[in-house]
Amino acid sequence: MTADPAKSAAPTWGPMRSYGRIKSRTLKPRQAALFDTLLPRIAIPEEGPLDPQVLMPGATGCWLEVGFGGGEHMAAQAEERPDVLFLGCEPFLNGVGSALRHIDERGLENVRLHGGDVRPVLQRLPDASLDRVLVLFPDPWPKARHQKRRLVQAETLAEFVRVLKPGGRFRFVTDWKDYAAWTLERALRQPGLKWLAGRADDWRTPPADHVTTRYEEKKLGDTPPIYLDFDRL
Ligand SMILES: C[S@@+](CC[C@H](N)C(=O)[O-])C[C@H]1O[C@@H](n2cnc3c(N)ncnc32)[C@H](O)[C@@H]1O
Repeated sequence: MTADPAKSAAPTWGPMRSYGRIKSRTLKPRQAALFDTLLPRIAIPEEGPLDPQVLMPGATGCWLEVGFGGGEHMAAQAEERPDVLFLGCEPFLNGVGSALRHIDERGLENVRLHGGDVRPVLQRLPDASLDRVLVLFPDPWPKARHQKRRLVQAETLAEFVRVLKPGGRFRFVTDWKDYAAWTLERALRQPGLKWLAGRADDWRTPPADHVTTRYEEKKLGDTPPIYLDFDRL
C-alpha cells in the first residue's frame, strides 16, 4: 500500500471478490497522515515469503485476522498479547485508517497490516506458521446468486488448514444462520479441522477470549451471533 490512499485503494484481486466497498468517506486528516508515517513501518511486505519470525523476531505466536473492519477487535487482542504477532488483512481503506489510529493510540508494536485481500497473503505464509485464524462477521452475501463470493470456500479452508500449526485454531463468527450452516458444512468436510462444540451453548456463547466486534454490535444479521471454533488436528 502506498502513502497515497487513493492509489492504494486498488484491490489485490482474489479468485472472486469477497468484499463490498473499499472506500467510503474521505479519510480524516489524522488517519490519512498515519498512512504516510505508521503504515510504511508496519505494512506486510508486498512480495516474497512471509515468515512470522522475520516480521517479528522472538514472537511467541502468530494470529491472522481476516477482514478486521475498523480494527477494534484486533487492537484489543494485540494489546492483551504483546508477544504475539498479529497479521491483519482488510481491503476497506477506511477500516485500515481506523486500525492505524487504534494501533497508534495504544502504541502497539505487534501488528502488521495488509490493505487488501487476505488470499494472496495466505499463499505466501509457510505451512504450520499460525496459531489462529479469525474470520469474524465476514460479508454474508445472503442472496443465493452471490454466495460464490463468500470468503469461506473449500479452497480458503484448505489454506487455513495448511497455514495453521497442529493444535492451532480457526474461529468463525457470523450472525447469519445460513452462513453458519454453510461454513460448518464445509469445515466438517475439510480434513484437518475438528469442531470443538459439545452442546448448543458452545456456539451460542462467546468464547472466553472473544472481544465484541463493531459489526457484532450492529446486529444486522438474522440470528444472534454463532461462534464456531475449530482445532487444527
Ligand atoms: C461485515 S465486515 C466485519 C468487520 C469486522 N470483522 C467486524 O466484525 O466488525 C467484513 C469485512 O471483511 C472484509 N473482507 C471481505 N473479504 C475479504 C478478503 N478477501 N480479505 C480480507 N478482508 C475481507 C470486508 O472488507 C469487511 O470489512
